[in-house]
Amino acid sequence: MNAILGIDVGASGIKGALVDLEKGRLHGERFRVPTPRPSTPEAMAGAVGEIVDFFGYSGIVGCGFPSIVKNGMALSAANIDHAWIGANIEKVFGDATQTTFFATNDADAAGIAEMRFGMGKGEQGLVFLITIGTGLGTALFYKGMLVPNTELGHVMWKNGKSAELYCSSGARERLKISRKEWAGRFNEYLHHLERLFSPDLFILGGGESKFFDSYKELLTTNARVVPAKLLNNAGIIGAAAFAAEQ
Ligand code: BGC
Repeated sequence: MNAILGIDVGASGIKGALVDLEKGRLHGERFRVPTPRPSTPEAMAGAVGEIVDFFGYSGIVGCGFPSIVKNGMALSAANIDHAWIGANIEKVFGDATQTTFFATNDADAAGIAEMRFGMGKGEQGLVFLITIGTGLGTALFYKGMLVPNTELGHVMWKNGKSAELYCSSGARERLKISRKEWAGRFNEYLHHLERLFSPDLFILGGGESKFFDSYKELLTTNARVVPAKLLNNAGIIGAAAFAAEQ
């Protein structure tokens, strides 16, 4: 079996695991280190290096990263240090670990995994994967094809700010609102996306997807809403799948 290391860089934690891409699941345990603060490229490279060392790994590495990613470069920094803007993620992490990195947006990575191995498998219509964590990440697929870097967590919301400041789990924690109140907000957000895109399916990933059963009744779009099958591991698995395709 050919296992590829997948790393999911988040605003609060960086998680890695070897991924079995034939079965679409983790091969062994995952290893997590807290995201350094400030999350500068240099500090993050150290944390990513700990993960590579933990697995004693030297092959290609797939990396999901919480920003717009084009040709390996970070082009935004909503929840990470602004020094990342314009930095080459693949070079920063590759140089620090003496391995070859392939980087993509974290929500796109999670979407790739769910479309291939999870709830999106065989879906031919318009599918959104939404990762709900510190930020709100989106991946959009049509007939199984990814439209990368959609960044719909940043659609302008009622107060002129990003939707993610209204209904991510980061917002829920910061505003100290109940999960029920949060779900009402998130439902408004789903309806907004539904008005704009008429999707067939919403797949919810990220930390909040674990609690899906406690709020699913409050989500009322016409489009189906399901939790990610790979839950919080979708980002790791999709990052490895992305690297394998490069
Ligand atoms: C970032 C996205 C990312 C999402 C989830 C947002 O703030 O702009 O690039 O996918 O958070 O991490």
